[in-house]
Amino acid sequence: MVNRERRRYAAQGYLCFAKLFEHQLSLKMMFFSTFVASALLCQLTLALDNGLARTPPMGWLSWERFRCNTDCKNDPEHCISEQLYKRQADLMVSEGYRDVGYEYVNIDDCWPAMERDKDGRLVADPVRFPSGIKALSRYMHSKGLKLGIYEDFGSKTCAGYPGSEFYMQIDANTFAEWEVDSLKFDGCNSDPKDMPVGYPAMSFFLNITGHPIMFSCEWPLYEIMHKLPVPNYAAIRSSCNQWRNYVDVQDNWDKVIQIIDHYGDDKGNFSAFAGPGGWNDPDMSDYRTIAKTCNIWRNYVDVTDSWDSIVDIINMYGKDEGNFSAAAGPGGFNDPDMLVVGDYGLSYYQQKAQFGMWALFAAPLMMSNDLSSISAEAKALLQNKNIIAINQDPLGNQAIRLFEVPGSLSVWVKKMASGGSAIGILNVNNQGTPQKYTTAFSDLGFTNKKGYVVKEAFENKTMGKYALDQAFTIYVDPTSIFIMIANPL
Ligand SMILES: *[C@@H]1O[C@H](CO)[C@@H](O)[C@H](O)[C@H]1NC(C)=O
Ligand SMILES: *[C@@H]1O[C@H](CO)[C@@H](O)[C@H](O)[C@H]1NC(C)=O
Ligand SMILES: *[C@@H]1O[C@H](CO)[C@@H](O)[C@H](O)[C@H]1NC(C)=O
Repeated sequence: MVNRERRRYAAQGYLCFAKLFEHQLSLKMMFFSTFVASALLCQLTLALDNGLARTPPMGWLSWERFRCNTDCKNDPEHCISEQLYKRQADLMVSEGYRDVGYEYVNIDDCWPAMERDKDGRLVADPVRFPSGIKALSRYMHSKGLKLGIYEDFGSKTCAGYPGSEFYMQIDANTFAEWEVDSLKFDGCNSDPKDMPVGYPAMSFFLNITGHPIMFSCEWPLYEIMHKLPVPNYAAIRSSCNQWRNYVDVQDNWDKVIQIIDHYGDDKGNFSAFAGPGGWNDPDMSDYRTIAKTCNIWRNYVDVTDSWDSIVDIINMYGKDEGNFSAAAGPGGFNDPDMLVVGDYGLSYYQQKAQFGMWALFAAPLMMSNDLSSISAEAKALLQNKNIIAINQDPLGNQAIRLFEVPGSLSVWVKKMASGGSAIGILNVNNQGTPQKYTTAFSDLGFTNKKGYVVKEAFENKTMGKYALDQAFTIYVDPTSIFIMIANPL
């Protein structure tokens, strides 16, 4: 499998050079240095090239658990304030989360003051963030953590705070100046048709600050919600057109800067400014472009603290419409939204299912919980090294669903860098007895003639060696998951 992946990338590299050559000739621009620089781009354009999210990012994000609670007068412990983020950060360190890989502490909506300053810059709410965001970044950095912030592509954030529309470059510069490490860029109060232009523009503005900022986009989610053409997942990473796109986009980025700098209050009809090369083609709003623009991207509805929500998201990923799983890889990942492990709504077994599935999906592992009041079980789960290792596997493959019996078992496989695979058997059936499942590796599409050595992942228990055709039986708890790691013998 690893070799096949390598060959695929090698083939892409070759095509890239061929296309590049053709393009250069046509432009009569055969300068050696340009050629070399561009050739480098060919290899790098599989994903956003800011050096971040080489494996799925891990951390903590306030939204699902703390929402837009701004009432620090009556609820000082839980309101959106610098105290909340500092307290969670302290616990990430003292309770061992940082040491197993959780590093981002991410602010969500409701942090800014309602008005920008006289120069148009965002300011943090002076009552709830009296020390300011830069001090909070520095606090995180002093603990070996990173700070993430939130803004919105539209005129206002989802909760009605100032949005980035017409202020994108100013905001990018502000976040860089504050030494922020990540930006979640939402899409409320905007025209999603502008997104294929606006999100790459923001990505560009972040890039030219020179400060690496992990870019988390909600772009495909809003396109899907507004019933725009479903992103063209099939085109993702399938050719080297990206090189051309890069150049075209560069040309147009300059235009976007001009628009924003000089025509900021023209109602920003971005689409009118898209140049030749089809920057605004419906085709371009595909995952190839998204992966080039964002480190992680939300492609489905918000998670809530319920089993129904978890199953709904898992099913969406299982359908893998347009093969979006293929867009996941180092530098860019599909984001099924936050972990609600340690909250109110899921049983322990269901928490195992969410955590296990998110690991298999190579999903960002962003906890949204209160680390000061989390159960010992949930904490142990979130710190399970074997499950985290599945998530953090360097290939960055997203598990695909081999098959499902609707309302009952489904089988998921994630190929790993070791040459082995993580296999998840999810049981969404809530009838109160573990479900028996008998299979053999040959039934699951595996082909190694010598068979496999197998471990159960949560408990790190050796299951033994199995010949390719040898049947074996496992039991999957109701509304839970069984995960095994199989390595070829
Ligand atoms: C900006 O983009 C270039 C080219 O893709 C990349 O090499 C560089 O690391 C990026 N810088 C930042 C700060 O993201
Ligand atoms: C999904 O994309 C991958 C990588 O491009 C490809 O190998 C695979 O055949 C595709 N699967 C489907 C069902 O289109
Ligand atoms: C799992 O068990 C093996 C021994 O079989 C051990 O080497 C490894 O460190 C264990 N992994 C974890 C995460 O405990």
